[in-house]
Amino acid sequence: MPNVTHIAVTGDTTYDVVVGHGLDSELASLIGSSTSRVALIHPATRPGDARRLATVVRSTGAEPVLIAVPDSEAAKTADVLTDCWTALGRAGFTRSDAVIGIGGGATTDLAGFVAASWLRGIRLIHVPTTLLGMVDAAVGGKTGINTSEGKNLVGAFYAPAGVLCDLDALSTLPKVDLVAGMAEIVKVGFTTDTAILDIVEADPVAALDVHSGPLRELVERAIRVKASVVSEDLREARPGGLGREVLNYGHTFAHAIELVERYTWRHGHAVSVGLAFIASLGRLSGRLSDADAARHRAVLTALGLPITYASGRFPELLDAMRIDKKSRGDLLRFVILDGIGRPGLLEGPDIALLEAAYAEVSEVSP
Ligand SMILES: NC(=O)c1ccc[n+]([C@@H]2O[C@H](COP(=O)([O-])OP(=O)(O)OC[C@H]3O[C@@H](n4cnc5c(N)ncnc54)[C@H](O)[C@@H]3O)[C@@H](O)[C@H]2O)c1
Repeated sequence: MPNVTHIAVTGDTTYDVVVGHGLDSELASLIGSSTSRVALIHPATRPGDARRLATVVRSTGAEPVLIAVPDSEAAKTADVLTDCWTALGRAGFTRSDAVIGIGGGATTDLAGFVAASWLRGIRLIHVPTTLLGMVDAAVGGKTGINTSEGKNLVGAFYAPAGVLCDLDALSTLPKVDLVAGMAEIVKVGFTTDTAILDIVEADPVAALDVHSGPLRELVERAIRVKASVVSEDLREARPGGLGREVLNYGHTFAHAIELVERYTWRHGHAVSVGLAFIASLGRLSGRLSDADAARHRAVLTALGLPITYASGRFPELLDAMRIDKKSRGDLLRFVILDGIGRPGLLEGPDIALLEAAYAEVSEVSP
């Protein structure tokens, strides 16, 4: 495999997602020679990557401006956004300057919105350091913050100039976060690129080894699918076919768990249970075979992902699924499979069917 892989995302603007080991040298060309100042937005708890990349910024002749923000979701607030604007204003950021978002999906979501909103848009580079960030959050141009009313309610579609996925960053990521990120990768395996499932099934241990060929291949395959989906459907306009909605496979139930659990669950864990739920719903509605539904559970379990959720919570989960849908102005509709790799839609299913699928993922009380 070549040392560095470039995956193009096309649309209003075209940019590359770069995957490999040790990618600092790729950063200089993304910054360009006409940039005077570069903000490095990073979690205060993880200053190391930002300090290292500041050296690369300096080597281009630009001035690095380190902006430390709270870790994780605490970064995605209007207050932190304002703090970032203040920092850019004080450092005199102009149209020709740039922002780099370094961290997990929360940090790159915030940094993306800072870049999108400052002077109506300045150059943005993402350096995701979690698996979820690499295969999902930093690819596709969605940026934003939360409000007290809910997650990701304020934001913008804003394409970066480039995304650097340096797999070396994953070596410090706790195993639990690595495993959680895998849920989004296998989701893509179920809907689109079934080779992903073959790779995980062949050797689940290698799939979770950040120095292995299989993990790199999984990351690249998942990014290729997301890049191709968002290139076709940049703003969720759904010109025909499923468009970007295919990325929501397993996500309606996952969002319901996240809401009911007040966002204390890792997104990937919720997605994993959501995948087990949607496989059951597919089977119970006569669209997916028993074997294909069982394959969902086997792949998720092999990676150490959860496939069950507390019993007795159906009314809350149903309400939460309805809220999730309301934001789209639709009746309940699910991306569902008519076989592995064959996504379709299920609209307005019977509540009894949803309850039966929930029963299949419910934890049996001891
Ligand atoms: N924009 C999108 O399209 C999109 C898609 C999916 C998710 N998201 C967003 O992404 C966020 C979740 O992202 P996440 O799962 O990366 O969580 P996160 O950003 O909260 O990061 C998880 C934790 O890992 C730490 N961390 C980051 N890199 C590390 C490393 N290399 N080693 C050790 N620790 C490290 C972080 O500091 C944090 O504590 C959510 O806010 C979600 O809304 C956005």
